[in-house]
Amino acid sequence: MKNPVDIAVTGAAGQISYALLFRLAAGEFLGEDQPINLYLLEIPSAMSALNGVVMELNDCAYPLLNRVITTDDPNVAFHNVDYAFLVGARPRGAGMERKDLLECNAEIFSVQGKALNEVANKNVKVLVTGNPANTNALIALNNAPNLKSKNFTAMTMLDHNRTINQLAEKSGVKATDIKNVIIWGNHSNTQYPDIHHAKIKGQNALDLVDNDWFIDELIPAIQQRGATVIKARGQSSAASAATAAIKQMRLWALGTPDGDWVSMALLSDGSYGIEKGLIYSFPVTVSQGEISIVQGLDINALSLEKMKITEKELHEEKEAIKHLL
Ligand code: NAD
Ligand code: LMR
Repeated sequence: MKNPVDIAVTGAAGQISYALLFRLAAGEFLGEDQPINLYLLEIPSAMSALNGVVMELNDCAYPLLNRVITTDDPNVAFHNVDYAFLVGARPRGAGMERKDLLECNAEIFSVQGKALNEVANKNVKVLVTGNPANTNALIALNNAPNLKSKNFTAMTMLDHNRTINQLAEKSGVKATDIKNVIIWGNHSNTQYPDIHHAKIKGQNALDLVDNDWFIDELIPAIQQRGATVIKARGQSSAASAATAAIKQMRLWALGTPDGDWVSMALLSDGSYGIEKGLIYSFPVTVSQGEISIVQGLDINALSLEKMKITEKELHEEKEAIKHLL
């Protein structure tokens, strides 16, 4: 049996974590031969609920679940961890935009960035899910100067999966027949789901679906999907968010498949003319744990305009929290 890996999950008593923890413990992240220790962080008022979640984890008698540690101290939660799922943050309600959460959530990521900096494994992979995810990741990264910027990504995999699903539904194929969609920019209503490079069973997507459908229906549907789920459920997405978090971290740890890429938000290095120093979603491949932004894609005028709109929003979010950087 391999040695256990240490995985931190914040907001561990919340609704995304309730969909995430059991799947981590079942081996869906790193495989059925990889034992894990779970370090679960919550705020003091949620510790009782968290204890209930731990009872249920224990009641599953998972062969791979070696140890569960619960705490309200980030320095305990992140001690030597290899992976950190930063989920804990307030979700938005109906009528709010994700950036409206900056004021209440930003501080969490400054505290947690500092703790990761002090105590986490230097190769830790930190995935920020709590909203607004891109700018929260920027805050965490800036508060962790001893870690490399490449240790941090924010989650746009849910948007990526949503785009795959809608394109598959529209063209009457399976999700696995869709490759090379892209989410550019912010996990917000300015994000740009781009199918100019997408393939459906190997054929160019835009030869098979109508351009007007792409512009007038797909783009707004993906931009608004989170709000549409909130309207229907009365709560924000949870199981689909947990699925995306596992997928993003798994591909980051184990690599992306040949012939495809995925979308992850990471620190811009200026690729595609995007301002350096923003956490921006790009098409990426991963090999041996290292993320590379896919280079050299043709970007038409429409795409460029949409990529700039979402870049501008991220720039404004960064300005709003610059006291935390
Ligand atoms: P939730 O309210 O059910 O759970 C959040 C949990 O975080 C709560 O239990 C809360 O006590 C805990 N928490 C708050 N502050 C904390 C702190 N400082 N340290 C540790 N834990 C803390 O919310 P949820 O539905 O699980 O969503 C969590 C976050 O994920 C929200 O911000 C939501 O908007 C975001 N989200 C992002 C995506 C994405 O695609 N990036 C998708 C879905 C949800
Ligand atoms: C989502 O995209 O479902 C999440 O970011 C939750 C939200 O606020 O929309």
